[in-house]
Amino acid sequence: MQLSINGRAYEVDAEPDEPLLWVLRDALGLTGTKYGCGLGICGSCTVHLDGVATRSCVTPVSTIEGRAITTIEGLAQLVDDVEVLHPVQQAFIDEQVPQCAWCMSGQMMTAAAFIETNAAPTDEEINVAMGANYCRCGCYTRIKVAVARAAELARERGEA
Ligand code: FES
Ligand code: FES
Repeated sequence: MQLSINGRAYEVDAEPDEPLLWVLRDALGLTGTKYGCGLGICGSCTVHLDGVATRSCVTPVSTIEGRAITTIEGLAQLVDDVEVLHPVQQAFIDEQVPQCAWCMSGQMMTAAAFIETNAAPTDEEINVAMGANYCRCGCYTRIKVAVARAAELARERGEA
């Protein structure tokens, strides 16, 4: 089957019910997307499907042919051959958010989809939007500060 990932077409040989997460990591080597619970609970495997945050560990690959998949590897943009980090990536660096970092690509993909739909979120809206992504290192306070900063950065760049 053919998958569109980060703007590139991939021909993939996979069982129809194989989770997207395994295809990304094992077949394609896109290991930025992480395995946590494998049950759709923790959020560490979050990618975008047509811009919507989606848990790849419970997404059968056969259900997403023809849809635009974005992983953490595709979140930054190339502008005049220079990589420009997504506002969420920049904010997570600026705020020094990660500890072990295992949950972080899922956190950032969730945050990136969220600020696309809410350019000026309140603290409460950020709490709700990020509340289902677990961080075993307990970086929750910094994550929330960084999401607010990312929304601000996107507004400053005129992306929101
Ligand atoms: S690994 Fe997918 S939600 Fe936990
Ligand atoms: S930074 Fe370690 S699990 Fe979140």
